[in-house]
Amino acid sequence: MIDDIQAARETALARLAAASTSDEVRAVEIEVLGKKGSLTDLKAGLGKLATIDEKKQAGAALNEASTTVASALAARLGELRRAERAVQLEVERVDLTEIMRRPQRGHAHVVTQAWQRLEDVFVGLGFQVAEGPEVETDWYNFEALNMPTNHPARSMHDTFYVEHGEPGSTVLRTHTSPVQIRVMQTIPPPIYMIMPGRVFRNETTDATHLAVFHQIEGLVIDRGITLADLAGTIESFTKSFFGADFTSRLRPSYFPFTEPSAEFDIRTPSGEWLELGGSGMVHPNVLRAGGLDPEEWSGFAFGFGIDRMAKERHSINDVREMYSNDIRFLEQF
Ligand code: FA5
Repeated sequence: MIDDIQAARETALARLAAASTSDEVRAVEIEVLGKKGSLTDLKAGLGKLATIDEKKQAGAALNEASTTVASALAARLGELRRAERAVQLEVERVDLTEIMRRPQRGHAHVVTQAWQRLEDVFVGLGFQVAEGPEVETDWYNFEALNMPTNHPARSMHDTFYVEHGEPGSTVLRTHTSPVQIRVMQTIPPPIYMIMPGRVFRNETTDATHLAVFHQIEGLVIDRGITLADLAGTIESFTKSFFGADFTSRLRPSYFPFTEPSAEFDIRTPSGEWLELGGSGMVHPNVLRAGGLDPEEWSGFAFGFGIDRMAKERHSINDVREMYSNDIRFLEQF
């Protein structure tokens, strides 16, 4: 009997070592330790042994064999399950780089590109770059620009007010023109300056209007500056920025801070005229607000919308699309 027990034990251990799946291990368990298993059968035969001693010896051997086989079984099952899980994980692994397009390298936003290009062109024409605050006082945004309280032109700008100081004294700047005053106050002429930046108007948005948009202001102050200098500068800019086949024109208009004032338009190669912005000779009251003597200095200023220029340059239908944060749209530019 002892020999049979040893044989069953060895066979079971050998088969466990050779098992390559957890199912095979479970089959061994049933065949050895199950109801009709080899060791279970032998246990049932214990009673048939003749002597107590034989029973004792065989019983001890059976217990040892059962315990050894059971622990070998548990150990092998653990090993195989781990291996099977590793295989399964490998099979189910989702390689994100295979199903997703590798992200493109980012680039500057279409409006930032236009802003940078405008700076490049104007720096090439001899201008310097200045920036002013986005939160302004009423004085810089309106008053110093020849728009005193109750001036009708104020209603052209739907203003956002900031709760700061006296009610109505602090605004989100409605244009970049207040930077003209700040520049005049700090830099002695001659001044050849551009002032790009973000501006705010309490407007309903549509295909050509945003409530938060960008302008670029230009200011030239020197001795003997005339309207011809303004026209010449606009023309040089138009050709440098849009191309040699574009031209510009000035059209009479009205701004409180320039006199005379002009809208300026550009003509595309297909003959279409597009309005770009406002301009004019700096009003004497504005020179005075900036601390300059209008008898000594004269100059011109202009201001136009960067977002609208980007829109025209890339034939974008709606300015709002540029701020929809749709990567599929923005990637095109
Ligand atoms: C002005 O803001 C004047 N400060 C321009 C100026 C400067 C005139 C210096 C004379 C001398 P206006 O409100 O027209 O003017 O705006 C100028 C440009 O900003 C417009 O031609 C347009 O290109 C752009 N713009 C105006 N409102 C919006 C808007 N809601 N959304 C997008 N662009 C706008």
